[in-house]
Amino acid sequence: MNAITPAAAERLVRVPLGERAYDILIGPGLIARAGREIAARLKGRKAAVITDENVAPRYLDALVASLEAAGIQAASLVLPAGEKTKSFEHLMTVCDAVLTARVERNDAVIALGGGVIGDLSGFAAGIVRRGVRFVQIPTSLLSQVDSSVGGKTGINTRHGKNLVGVFHQPDLVLADIDVLNTLSEREFRAGYAEVAKYGLIDKPDFFAWLETNWRDVFAGGAARIEAIAASCQAKSDVVVADERENGPRALLNLGHTFGHALEAATAYDSRRLVHGEGVAIGMVLAHEFSARLNLASPDDAKRVEAHLKAVGLPTRMGDIPGELPPAETLMDAIAQDKKVKSGKLTFILTRGIGQSFVADDVPSSEVLSFLKEKHP
Ligand SMILES: NC(=O)c1ccc[n+]([C@@H]2O[C@H](COP(=O)([O-])OP(=O)(O)OC[C@H]3O[C@@H](n4cnc5c(N)ncnc54)[C@H](O)[C@@H]3O)[C@@H](O)[C@H]2O)c1
Ligand SMILES: [Zn+2]
Repeated sequence: MNAITPAAAERLVRVPLGERAYDILIGPGLIARAGREIAARLKGRKAAVITDENVAPRYLDALVASLEAAGIQAASLVLPAGEKTKSFEHLMTVCDAVLTARVERNDAVIALGGGVIGDLSGFAAGIVRRGVRFVQIPTSLLSQVDSSVGGKTGINTRHGKNLVGVFHQPDLVLADIDVLNTLSEREFRAGYAEVAKYGLIDKPDFFAWLETNWRDVFAGGAARIEAIAASCQAKSDVVVADERENGPRALLNLGHTFGHALEAATAYDSRRLVHGEGVAIGMVLAHEFSARLNLASPDDAKRVEAHLKAVGLPTRMGDIPGELPPAETLMDAIAQDKKVKSGKLTFILTRGIGQSFVADDVPSSEVLSFLKEKHP
């Protein structure tokens, strides 16, 4: 790939949500520039930076230095890494830290981390003083292409994932692609499943581009920026069409109904399965299930599987280490998923690559016999 200057490489995606509109900047070196970018957009000069123990030693000092150089006084809070941090207990800790830092309405909570830190800090930003400014500095691929955009925030409870939260849009998203170099390969691949998802929802050309260019996306540089920008643009389009998920935003759940059931079946044990891996298997299942219902060609399912397999993602239930509960238990998890309306199941199905749609009348008996057939 040709060398390109950072300025030329950078991309900006604007999320046009009226008075809640915001910019997503995607490119190298953005943490070093964060202070200037934030100071240019926000009136306040105080910030509480929330991060986790994996990200802090690598990037916290650089971010704080950048904020202070721009005249923004920064306090910071380092939390344990992992899904369990999205809890009431840690929400309290974050709210307390934000208030201790005397962050007021025009000041900012800054999330520096993956989706866990983004969801938790965004929730705190949405409720402290009934809402303070919020900046996302996503550091995982998944958070750069998905969770940092769209304003869904929240925590998990013993009743399930993401069940308590608010919609609170960020004021700015800074996706610094350099930080992805320290992400584990497995986490990078998991985030890539969500990138491929945008192609499979309604962008067949993007999916074909990924089939050709995925190695460059993994390698970094211009192709990586392009893939992240295209993903943010796709997510922005869906969010603008349906900010509060009353309709088409549900398409973003392609592969997630099966995926969430597999995550529940493995007790959210990241050693066995992480979210993006569940989504990869779920997307293959969604295409196969659509073929079984004669909606799509079985060749499309094969094509999806071939690509996800090529990048190193799991594509079959049998790829998950350890034993899975029986198909009936997976079915129960699916039925408990929120996408169930009056007995019939709501599923994201497809007519082919990039032709997904919301089906709200899928008979559960069909799903069960399909799961039995696919069960390892
Ligand atoms: N709000 C939304 O719309 C939305 C959408 C999708 C997912 N989510 C949520 O996002 C969460 C998953 O996000 P995630 O995959 O980013 O998980 P995560 O935040 O747990 O990050 C994954 C791991 O990578 C580490 N990490 C992050 N950036 C790193 C870096 N640059 N270098 C080294 N290590 C790094 C983290 O410490 C963590 O161990 C889930 O809780 C999910 O529910 C939210
Ligand atoms: Zn997802």
